[in-house]
Amino acid sequence: SLPDKFDREVKIAVIGGTGLTSLPGYHPVASLNISTPWGAPSSPIMILEHNGIPVAFVARHGVYHQYAPHEVPARANIAALRSIGVRTIIAFSAVGSLQEHVKPMDFVLPDQIIDRTKGIRPFTFFEGGVVGHVGFADPFDPHLSPIVQRCASSMVGEGVVLHNKGTIVCMEGPQFSTRAESEMYRSWGGSVINMSALPEAKLAREAELAYQMICMATDYDCWRNLPGEDVDVAMVMKYMASNGENAKHLVGAVLDELAKEEHAEVVSAKHWEGSAQGAVKFM
Ligand code: ADE
Repeated sequence: SLPDKFDREVKIAVIGGTGLTSLPGYHPVASLNISTPWGAPSSPIMILEHNGIPVAFVARHGVYHQYAPHEVPARANIAALRSIGVRTIIAFSAVGSLQEHVKPMDFVLPDQIIDRTKGIRPFTFFEGGVVGHVGFADPFDPHLSPIVQRCASSMVGEGVVLHNKGTIVCMEGPQFSTRAESEMYRSWGGSVINMSALPEAKLAREAELAYQMICMATDYDCWRNLPGEDVDVAMVMKYMASNGENAKHLVGAVLDELAKEEHAEVVSAKHWEGSAQGAVKFM
């Protein structure tokens, strides 16, 4: 059993999605049970050490995948990470592809989001007398994406394909889309689709954290209308299993890069400091 205490600041966190419920190969040094005003996070916060740099890890859907996308305690996850000093989050997610050229197994670094959640998930820290409106024109951190791109380009020889930008449609679920919806998202310019980008990205912005999602394509949703190709859970799990190795290598490379001293400004998310305070009105 690991200690429930860690006495150094942890600046970097990874949120693991479906098929990435742990970061094997890293040295676990603590397992924190943190409670927040928004409840407990999805899983204990694992502290792993990578070349002497501490990294926090949370399994978005829980250690037993017990939280459906609309049940993930996203506010507790973000608040718990913020409370131990985290400033930079790399979040993984399995996604469906809405574009022919984004093939199952490809990685995508989205730069935009279309919100198709239904407003049933708690989606803000600003309520109950604290009114705030943060900017969200660019929902991901502009400094993180080039770092991930550099790491992925060094892995091209290993058969890794990374698409440098794209629009992610975040739907409510838990059911998958109808064919008409899938076609509509394509006509809107959607590149990929998942159920987890929101409210996570919005809450990270409200908490003044640098946040980037790394998507792994597992299916073509249902728009290609080909026999046996409509997305189901088995398809998502199968591709995640075969892509786990690539995902692990990519996380390792990104963590190496983030851990380097020259990215200290990026990792500390200095550019976000105070941005939410400026967006808050006290009545
Ligand atoms: N996650 C993985 N594939 C998906 C799809 N087709 N739609 C929504 N979420 C997904």
